[in-house]
Amino acid sequence: MTATSTPLYVVMLGAPGAGKGTQARMLSETLGLPQVSSGDIFRENLKNQTPLGLLAKQYMDNGALVPDDVTINMVMERLSRSDCAAGVILDGFPRTLAQADALDKALKAANLAISRVPLLEVSDDALINRLAGRRVCRDCQAMYHLEFNPPAVEGKCDKCGGELYLRADDNPDTVRNRLFVYYKQTAPLIGYYYAHGVLFSLNGDQPMEQVQAELLAAIQA
Ligand code: AP5
Ligand code: ZN
Repeated sequence: MTATSTPLYVVMLGAPGAGKGTQARMLSETLGLPQVSSGDIFRENLKNQTPLGLLAKQYMDNGALVPDDVTINMVMERLSRSDCAAGVILDGFPRTLAQADALDKALKAANLAISRVPLLEVSDDALINRLAGRRVCRDCQAMYHLEFNPPAVEGKCDKCGGELYLRADDNPDTVRNRLFVYYKQTAPLIGYYYAHGVLFSLNGDQPMEQVQAELLAAIQA
């Protein structure tokens, strides 16, 4: 992307475990744009025991959403940094209508708009299986799956050798609540972005490389 082209703002939409993080990371590497994940920023804050991280933990541990004002301020601050000038791959934000509205207003004020919103569609059974088998690197946040994308050495990251762990909110009870919260608070964004003419659906129940190929083709069309 050249400095003169329109900044590309992509919002990854989909249920917990649909593959937003996996696809956002691949897209970010291919397009050279930053991946901004609200969940990763909360987890990074928690790792560093910041007040924001400790506040977010109270919600994340139950699978509930962190309040809109806190989340919106945090993401807007991240988007204002210079590395986002050419565009960004948003992963996990927005996930309420209030967040979507705040993002639209901020972009509009800068004469910008959301470019595309891929919706990753995956069945609920597959989602639960994906989250139970997910392992994440403590050091570089690389994502693995015990069955679909296992590391070469059990418990160790292929990229940096870091320790792999199971996220605290990936236990079955919390996953059920995260799915409930998704359908109640985030699924309305499907209609919102459809009405804005930027939504497109992808079958997320295919191998990761196939999903990525279809995602790239749609974004570059
Ligand atoms: P967040 O971190 O955003 O989690 P999430 O939305 O629940 O999504 P996940 O990260 O669980 O899944 P994903 O879709 O990224 O899938 P992944 O690529 O990892 O949020 C966590 C919490 O933070 C929230 O509950 C909330 O408390 C808080 N929060 C965050 N943002 C917020 C906001 N905006 N407002 C308020 N609160 C907020 O893939 C899953 C697994 O499947 C992996 O193991 C992967 O290897 C595997 N996999 C991926 N693709 C495939 C494939 N095609 N085939 C087979 N396996 C695959
Ligand atoms: Zn790593």
